Amino acid sequence: MTVHIGAEIGDIAQTVLMPGDPYRAKWAAETFLEDAKLVNEVRGMLGYTGTWKGNRVTIQGSGMGMPSLSIYANELISTYDAQTLIRIGSCGGMQPHVKIRDVIIAMTASTITSPSSGIFREVNYAPCADWGLLENAVTAARAMGAAPHVGGIYSSDVFYAERPDLDEQMVRHGILGVEMEAAELYTLAARHGRRALAVLTVSDHLQTGEALPSEDRERSFGDMVQIALDAAFA
Ligand code: HPA
Repeated sequence: MTVHIGAEIGDIAQTVLMPGDPYRAKWAAETFLEDAKLVNEVRGMLGYTGTWKGNRVTIQGSGMGMPSLSIYANELISTYDAQTLIRIGSCGGMQPHVKIRDVIIAMTASTITSPSSGIFREVNYAPCADWGLLENAVTAARAMGAAPHVGGIYSSDVFYAERPDLDEQMVRHGILGVEMEAAELYTLAARHGRRALAVLTVSDHLQTGEALPSEDRERSFGDMVQIALDAAFA
């Protein structure tokens, strides 16, 4: 057990999928895993462990934002020895060619601050995905008929941004989408020698103001879970 995860050591698999929303963890575990068992409910941040094609997998909610994700990822890595951590979540589209429902596979995650920014001080560290996982995810997405966007994303600290100029700079520099967790996940994985990736669905668009209707969210979320599982065990 850790401060925030009630599971016994051994109840958490070495491969962990991390949606922000704990109810998405429940839905994904019930939909994709066999013998899914609830292993964490501390603070309602649900986590389940089961098997997928014979492979043990945990699906653990991360909460929203880098400080929350950082707590769960640190404890999963340090206490439970998680080796592969894949964020599955939504993001806001930032480029005109990135459309609602598209899948983004994040090669890098830029940020202005994260729980790790105090370590780097004057260095603009570049958090990046594990190459093998990224390659597997692109292959899996294409095999499903998706045309994933692969490139940089922006991990913001705020959903309700008061600095439109920052978003403008991100757009100017080719950033595909904005979310709030991946940069810290990539940084922690690098620090501890683990594999990390973020597979995202575009749920809203900063330039057009469009948003994915709620009935479509589940299906799009399912594609991401499938891509993440395929990538983890390819
Ligand atoms: N901003 C930040 N995080 C997000 C967004 C957004 O527009 N959409 C989904 N996650």
